[in-house]
Amino acid sequence: MTDHSQAQIGVIGLAVMGSNLARNFANHGYTVAVYNRTAAKTEEFMARYGDGSFLPAETIEEFVASLERPRRAIIMVQAGAATDAVINQLADAMEEGDIIVDGGNALYTDTVRREKEISARGLHFVGTGISGGEEGALNGPSIMPGGTEESYASLGPLLEDISAHVDGTPCCTHIGPDGAGHFVKMVHNGIEYADMQVIGEAYHLLRYAAGLEPARIAEIFREWNEGDLNSYLIEITAEVLAQVDTATGRPLIDVIVDSAGQKGTGRWTVKAALDLGIPVTGIGEAVFARALSSARPQRRAAQSLPSGALGTLEDPEGFVEDVRRALYASKVVAYAQGFDEIKAGSQEHGWDVDPRDLATIWRGGCIIRAKFLNRIVDAYNANPEVESLLLDPYFTEQITESLDSWRRVVVTATRMGLPIPVFASSLSYYDSLRSERLPAALIQGQRDYFGAHTYERTDRPGRFHTLWSEDRSEVEA
Ligand code: ATR
Repeated sequence: MTDHSQAQIGVIGLAVMGSNLARNFANHGYTVAVYNRTAAKTEEFMARYGDGSFLPAETIEEFVASLERPRRAIIMVQAGAATDAVINQLADAMEEGDIIVDGGNALYTDTVRREKEISARGLHFVGTGISGGEEGALNGPSIMPGGTEESYASLGPLLEDISAHVDGTPCCTHIGPDGAGHFVKMVHNGIEYADMQVIGEAYHLLRYAAGLEPARIAEIFREWNEGDLNSYLIEITAEVLAQVDTATGRPLIDVIVDSAGQKGTGRWTVKAALDLGIPVTGIGEAVFARALSSARPQRRAAQSLPSGALGTLEDPEGFVEDVRRALYASKVVAYAQGFDEIKAGSQEHGWDVDPRDLATIWRGGCIIRAKFLNRIVDAYNANPEVESLLLDPYFTEQITESLDSWRRVVVTATRMGLPIPVFASSLSYYDSLRSERLPAALIQGQRDYFGAHTYERTDRPGRFHTLWSEDRSEVEA
């Protein structure tokens, strides 16, 4: 019989995510200590869900005392100062070897800092990404814990238990030390931004280039969901497009204001990529597309600008399939770039993140869950050192088959004056990557001209400078 006098795990913060996570643990047979700063919320939680599975506490000290040792406490409060405050309260009440877990969307550099501070006090600190939204937290999220091996040995089995499972494999694994878990969760969200944007661009073209109605486009997305594009995001896209607004009788999509919100993880992904020097153009364009959509006064003012559009759709027959392929190819580029960022972050911080782990645990529970991720696992299994996912034979073949369509879609949208920032920039990225020569040679020449920044030559080693303001002879730098 389970001993309900002590809890195996505790959850602090009983807003929606915290409550659902606590209930998920209880549903898996654990006794769960629960605490919320405002006691009324704890009482409300107990009144709704309370049974022998929960040990409610009125103070942090009482909460800590109700946990088995080593204590495992997951913080699910507002990111930032609130998280720091709760970490400190917990650390004061805990003892050596206990484990503090931050399950919020913390910036990974905060996690690195907190891990340092908390481990100096003899405790473990685990920053973990949890993806899947409210529903995932309750029924099985994808979980990305950082922290030490030792903390994972104690915490991991519980997290694996409550995570989503795909083919019997838990969507949870130890990602790496300190900030590794929150870093990969951040990039996961960045990829999600790009994935949502390419779907948005596909919808926009089907609607405004091909002139299809939302209900018809919903059917097309349902069909696409049966093939390579099969994913949660494609599935819910069909649901949203099929929805009719009860107040007006119009498609709901037409009464939703076209300004996309953002909470910051996409922006963080791009900032970190800029610092690492990794071109995540798809994610970047997706973040900027949301920003542009929200610049309402500027957009209103700009509506008087001419389109210069050239004609209408030339080949409506093949257009739907062209758009599907452009979507797929752009999506592959966005994932390739996201995985490049994870590789670079892992190298920079010495985390030793295995990309296969991510592709595996993102197959279920999280927002970007998709069949497609199996292909990424296969790619890294075949060649763990592959320079880019685009060079994996399977993805190369897929892109090659999509190229004509991708180019036609970008040309068509450009001719018709329809915005496709991620479709277009992803194609440009692809063309840049495979180019034998880039205009960067000219940029080096310009830099040498105005700033004596020197250049390398294609025909011999060393660094060189042309004496631009003198006789324009070349000297070795
Ligand atoms: P949501 O957006 O779902 O409401 P959130 O804002 O991320 O969630 O987190 C809200 C939780 O953070 C609540 O449990 C809140 O506690 P109260 O119910 O007492 O407001 C908790 N929280 C916020 N600031 C806190 C702080 N300084 N100390 C402790 N808990 C705090």
